[in-house]
Amino acid sequence: MEDRFFPIYKRFKPVFVRGEGVWLIDENGKRYLDLSSGIGVNALGHAHPEVVRRVKEQSEKLFHVSNLFYNLPQFELLERLASLTKREAFFLCNSGAEAVEASIKFARKFYQGKKWKIISMNNSFHGRTYGALSATGQKKYHEGFEPLVPGFTYVPFNDISALKEAIDEETCAVIIEPIQGEGGIHLANKEYLKEVRELTLEEDVLLIFDEIQTGIGRTGYFLAEEFYGVKADIVLLAKALGGGLPLGAVCTSKEIAKAMEPGAHGTTMGGNLLACVAGSAVLDIVGNDKFLKEVREKGEYLEKNLMDLLEIPIVKEIRGKGLMWGIELNIKVREILEELIERGIVALSAGENVLRLLPPLIITQEELELSIENIKEVLKKRCSNNEG
Ligand SMILES: Cc1ncc(COP(=O)(O)O)c(C=O)c1O
Repeated sequence: MEDRFFPIYKRFKPVFVRGEGVWLIDENGKRYLDLSSGIGVNALGHAHPEVVRRVKEQSEKLFHVSNLFYNLPQFELLERLASLTKREAFFLCNSGAEAVEASIKFARKFYQGKKWKIISMNNSFHGRTYGALSATGQKKYHEGFEPLVPGFTYVPFNDISALKEAIDEETCAVIIEPIQGEGGIHLANKEYLKEVRELTLEEDVLLIFDEIQTGIGRTGYFLAEEFYGVKADIVLLAKALGGGLPLGAVCTSKEIAKAMEPGAHGTTMGGNLLACVAGSAVLDIVGNDKFLKEVREKGEYLEKNLMDLLEIPIVKEIRGKGLMWGIELNIKVREILEELIERGIVALSAGENVLRLLPPLIITQEELELSIENIKEVLKKRCSNNEG
């Protein structure tokens, strides 16, 4: 059976058949605490009753109509997105990579082909399609797939002089993840992002924030840019936006949207009606101030308790914000993930050495406590195995 699939994922053993809140249940009935949210997707956990209710209702009315027509689920989603992102114009698609692709086209089109170069960060991750892959500042993802899309250069993250030097009169955009996710949970410095904003305004270059992982409340703010106090020209969302259904969005200004015309870009499935009603349910819950405050509080609790892990010799550094954390180890993380799965905990890696935690935002303090306890035990056990 396994060889029916492309060998592109290194999968773990359990086959999940059901989910309840932050818990996943496998085919043998074993329960797992999910600290991965399906890689940052299930912000409301699994089978959230409000998401289920709205998708059920919509599924009895209409699944899909083409984007040659307007539809109510898209209107409703965009109204919420406008108020939460403080943006005016939106392009809906199906995934993170598609949102990145669209933003690259929009940025080039905005300058009518006069500016076309795009600068991204070393160690960044923006997706696997050619534009998104070209924007991704990690060699390992490029190998075997060159030539990439022309016009991309990479600069060190958190280094304003390097960015200054790289911008020229043909640069149309700078794309940044406010917190690098897949690259190992590296936070932008506040001062740096402010300087990037000033510089891009001075140089007439669009600033794109890839908030595909950091957005939708992950950091305790609806967008991470709010924590940084910086407003980008374009914000990209996906992952958690569709509550588990495929949905991405490019969120921007009317001015940038107006540079496009009918036929300049499009997608058959983008903004699918079921995904949009699920998205509206997510936004109604996550976009609430009280909900976000609770995420910040849980984030503080997690931070305080995770820092104890620094006593364990294989733990090098711990970085994060809200409910997005990376525990950098000086060993490979795969065996730790396997051991956690044995104990009924699903976590993630970011690169080879970082244990990444992206729990559903609805996780309780008790569940966080249970998670930390298990992680601590597994890391400690690994240390004593080393000594033995
Ligand atoms: C910051 C960021 N951008 C883009 C993507 C690509 O999203 P997708 O896998 O939905 O294409 C990811 C996925 O991990 C991501 O973390």
